[in-house]
Amino acid sequence: MQGIAYILSCEMDPMHDERPLRGHNFVFSGGTAGIGLAAATAIARRGAAILLLGRDGDRGERAAATVCAAGAAEAVFRAADLTTMAGVGQAIRAIGEWRPALHGLVHTAMTASPQRADTADGFERAFGLQYLARYALNRGLLAALASSGDGRIVHVGAKAPAGLVPDLDDLQFERRRWSLLPTLMSSQVLGYLHVQAAAQRWRDLPVTTSIVCVGMTRTETVRGWPWFVRGLYRLFGTSPERSAANAVRLLTAVDVRGANGSIFFDPQRFEPTPLALDPALAHRTWELSDRLARSRGLVLPESPGSVTPSA
Ligand SMILES: NC(=O)c1ccc[n+]([C@@H]2O[C@H](COP(=O)([O-])OP(=O)(O)OC[C@H]3O[C@@H](n4cnc5c(N)ncnc54)[C@H](OP(=O)(O)O)[C@@H]3O)[C@@H](O)[C@H]2O)c1
Repeated sequence: MQGIAYILSCEMDPMHDERPLRGHNFVFSGGTAGIGLAAATAIARRGAAILLLGRDGDRGERAAATVCAAGAAEAVFRAADLTTMAGVGQAIRAIGEWRPALHGLVHTAMTASPQRADTADGFERAFGLQYLARYALNRGLLAALASSGDGRIVHVGAKAPAGLVPDLDDLQFERRRWSLLPTLMSSQVLGYLHVQAAAQRWRDLPVTTSIVCVGMTRTETVRGWPWFVRGLYRLFGTSPERSAANAVRLLTAVDVRGANGSIFFDPQRFEPTPLALDPALAHRTWELSDRLARSRGLVLPESPGSVTPSA
């Protein structure tokens, strides 16, 4: 009897065993290159339908062909510039026309420019693209994710220094001097706060939200950078496929409810750490983001379970 229980417990590991993905629909925001494309290709091999978002049409169509060749039930590209709330709204509409139910949404859209470049909405770029667009897409696609019965949101990001608190009174780096690393790190921590709050607010819905951190990866993200930076990435970066591994596992595992509101710090290990940031700060960040997205014309659905956080 004990032996059977042991065999069963070995066989059933919901965070490690895979669910079948045929008939499932996945969106990869920034999935036309790098880590997003590697993750989309891995999911395509399991026979799922895939929608890729990005700006460059040629690159998007090439990426969709790659994903299709890997075995996707369907692979489509939709052009959208996610630096603006108008672009986010356009992406939400295009995804809604594609499929009414989503089983996964992966965020990898990024542009790291060594110079300050604000978005057409007037946001500092890392804030606008790597934080606010993710927030707005998650809000706008929540109903589609919930209606699949098991929708999984995965943010791909980086490990921020412990204790870093974003300055909510200067999110656009107007009072402080702009430099790339602090803006990237600030947008990362805003993402952590969002994921923590989303897991709490949406806890009664069949939707999970998690973050996977990656390190230096050999992608084209540094293509506009000086030669020695590109050389460093080529020499020491890991492959996009390796950096995509935890995201893929979050999409394929039988049950990831145990990872809801968690962050995976180490890209080499599938080890969730529950986020435990200041709930009041997470709440303020959410409300502020809601106002900013709406102020740029994005129509967001009311958030189910808009609870005030417990202390
Ligand atoms: N690579 C690294 O070393 C590294 C290190 C730490 C963390 N990360 C994280 O990993 C994730 C992916 O990085 P990656 O290196 O795979 O990036 P990447 O190779 O540069 O790919 C970025 C993707 O985002 C799309 N994109 C860029 N700007 C966009 C916009 N305004 N609207 C819509 N799509 C846009 C790009 O397509 P288009 O240009 O055609 O729009 C492309 O599909 C990011 O979230 C980043 O924070 C990466």
